[in-house]
Amino acid sequence: MPVLGLGVYQNYDTELCVLDAFRAGSSTTAQAYRNEADVGFAVAESGLAREDVFISYVDLFLIHNPHSGKGLRLENYSALLERRDAGDIRSVGVSNYGIKHLEEICEAGLEAPAVNQIELHPLCPQRPIVAYCKQHNIVVQAYTPLIRGRRDEPVLRQIADKHGMDIAQVLVRWSLQKGCGSPPRACAPKCARLTTQGNPGSHRSQSRRRPRAYARTRRSSSSRWTTRICGVLDALDRGAQGAVTWNAVDAD
Ligand SMILES: NC(=O)c1ccc[n+]([C@@H]2O[C@H](COP(=O)([O-])OP(=O)(O)OC[C@H]3O[C@@H](n4cnc5c(N)ncnc54)[C@H](OP(=O)(O)O)[C@@H]3O)[C@@H](O)[C@H]2O)c1
Repeated sequence: MPVLGLGVYQNYDTELCVLDAFRAGSSTTAQAYRNEADVGFAVAESGLAREDVFISYVDLFLIHNPHSGKGLRLENYSALLERRDAGDIRSVGVSNYGIKHLEEICEAGLEAPAVNQIELHPLCPQRPIVAYCKQHNIVVQAYTPLIRGRRDEPVLRQIADKHGMDIAQVLVRWSLQKGCGSPPRACAPKCARLTTQGNPGSHRSQSRRRPRAYARTRRSSSSRWTTRICGVLDALDRGAQGAVTWNAVDAD
């Protein structure tokens, strides 16, 4: 599974953005977003082999939230594992699951989900859930990694200016440094810049003519992205108050 994808929630320029994203990463979509067809057109248009493209909903089927209650949560999850075993979907994940919901799965004797997609950015790093997932080999996907476009945090601006990056690139980079997958949403042409994994300047070397070369995301390390910079961003943690979405991890 690629670490960097494109989120297409409320993306009204989907085909173009997905084509842009294919040059460096992957695409993510979900049933309720109503733009699955445009993702499909982009796949066809790109000329990429299907196995080189990762599409959430087909390659990774996520249970969107834990609100259904324990009984239905486990029933749905078991049913999806069966569909996976039958070859209808490639992998099963969950979203907005807190530790309690993940432990439920374990206690029921079921295998752990491949992914837990949760709200995650420096203002809302959800450390206990991330630690639990790492311990149980569950990939954490950081949703709303760009804090939905928030620009009012001076520390973010200072770091971005110092390193010649956009705030959006700083945030994507932070997610990747934390070992989390990231599906930022961006309209073209911001999208191409974001899919450089937050490496300043690296977008300039990418060619539109060779999408296949960029279909797999590589994690690169930059000496400037030291523990110290991550430490500065980590200090922005505002706990539950830092969330900008419903962040349903505490559902019963
Ligand atoms: N499972 C869940 O419950 C859940 C909930 C929310 C989101 N998600 C997933 O996470 C994905 C991302 O979350 P999100 O779309 O809510 O928020 P996000 O990725 O944190 O932020 C998107 C916003 O950032 C702006 N942006 C992108 N690049 C930028 C740049 N370089 N400079 C300035 N602004 C920039 C975008 O503007 P433009 O659109 O104008 O480019 C958009 O308004 C979604 O697409 C979805 O796949 C999942």
